Amino acid sequence: MTMSRPAAVIVLAAGEGTRMKSRTTPKVLHELGGRSLVGHVLAAARDLRPERLVVVVGHGREKVVRHLAEIAPDAVAVTQEQQNGTGHAVRTVLEAVGALPGTVVVTNGDHPLLRGETLADLVRTHEADGNAVTVLSTDIPDPTGYGRIVRGPGGEVVGIVEHKDAGPDERAIHEINVGMYVFDGKLLADALGRITTDNAGGEEYLTDVVGILRGDGHRAGAYKAADWIETQGVNDRVQLAQARRQLNDRVLEEHMRAGVTIVDPLSTWVDVQVTLEPDVVIEPNTQLHGGTHVAAGARIGPNSTLTDTSVGEDATVVNAVCVSAEIGPEVSVGPFAYLRPGTRLARKAKIGTYVETKNAVVGEGSKVPHLTYVGDAEIGEGSNIGAACVFVNYDGVTKSRSVVGDHVKVGSDNMIVAPVTIGDGAYTAAGSVITNDVPPGAMAVARARQRNVEGWVERKRAGTPSAEAAQRAREQDGKNSE
Ligand code: UD1
Ligand code: CA
Repeated sequence: MTMSRPAAVIVLAAGEGTRMKSRTTPKVLHELGGRSLVGHVLAAARDLRPERLVVVVGHGREKVVRHLAEIAPDAVAVTQEQQNGTGHAVRTVLEAVGALPGTVVVTNGDHPLLRGETLADLVRTHEADGNAVTVLSTDIPDPTGYGRIVRGPGGEVVGIVEHKDAGPDERAIHEINVGMYVFDGKLLADALGRITTDNAGGEEYLTDVVGILRGDGHRAGAYKAADWIETQGVNDRVQLAQARRQLNDRVLEEHMRAGVTIVDPLSTWVDVQVTLEPDVVIEPNTQLHGGTHVAAGARIGPNSTLTDTSVGEDATVVNAVCVSAEIGPEVSVGPFAYLRPGTRLARKAKIGTYVETKNAVVGEGSKVPHLTYVGDAEIGEGSNIGAACVFVNYDGVTKSRSVVGDHVKVGSDNMIVAPVTIGDGAYTAAGSVITNDVPPGAMAVARARQRNVEGWVERKRAGTPSAEAAQRAREQDGKNSE
């Protein structure tokens, strides 16, 4: 079945979402799977390639508009000052943007699980059947609270009755209005002019348009979604958690079917925009967020959280937190590593245990194995940073960069005080504080020479176990040299 481009998709997002009980976050901005509620709805709406994308905003308008500017700059926000109902919301849009001749899709803004394909099927059904209005419906085990689809003797849709307004016979109906509709734009505008607030909610119900158009002799229809889970809205934080779990199950299943091993789906969370190549292995308790990408054969986890991070082929990342990092092929990260933004690790590099990096470029095959901070630095190829080094990048006022060349061996417990350059092939002695450039091939020693004060303990700490041990060692030494 073909489908034409709708003139508009209108997303209803002005409601308060009282049941979320949030002091800070408008309902449609709550997050799951790496997107806001309204972000998911907009993603599904985009699959229809509408000429216009309109979002009705009201409660928390400033925050919602700011968010839309980030995620959907092409969307038009229309303000509904008072939330007088879903019909009033759509009427407000038509008054603001003018007539919308052609197909108009309206969707609630709080249904994050709805697939673009389902919306497209709804539009196709609408067009194929030549309807004035087509409603997305589904059979649901517990229809409490929803609008019910009322059908005539021939099974034809005659209207929608809201739960509050429904009598016992209507309440027994399990086919509900999901909250997504396709309208003929002209007929919609005309019908909206005639809806009233004469109902239990005292609001202008969009759902009344169905009965009005039907009364005018137009065709109304319903497209029944097979999977009622997909049609679930989010009204409180319990439903938010349920939707998050559903979405995650769906995302993981797609990855597993495409060749990714997920050892423990129950403790693995993957955002919708993450991309994983075949033969990636995800170990338990791992979260992959944002635009993270993992290439074939890489192994992530256990206990790792990656945000906007790319991982190359056959790399391993164990017990690590990585944010905006680029991890090259065959790189080894962790256990217990923190890669911060601007970290770039070339092929076969190693970032080991208790290592933190930030704005750090590590060249091919270079190793930072233990207990080290690398901030604002560039390390060449084949170099080794000894245990417990600090790239001292901050003098309290400004941050500076350090450069370490190729095949450099930095000794253990070095302070590399930026800005400083260590030339190719140079060595630095353990415990050095490197404040001056080191020429290529030099050995830098930057520490006090050792001085032994003979007999100090026996003189100054007489009677202690240390002094006694020292005395025994001296006597033994004397015997040996007899
Ligand atoms: C609505 C439907 C109901 C359906 C249910 C599915 C109506 C009258 N009823 O009921 O048949 O079963 O959705 O979830 O439409 N909104 C505005 N402006 C308003 C009022 C609401 O933008 O003035 C937005 C809300 O932010 C929300 C959506 O419209 O995204 C639905 O509103 P809500 O109050 O949740 O409608 P329900 O009572 O759930
Ligand atoms: Ca709702």
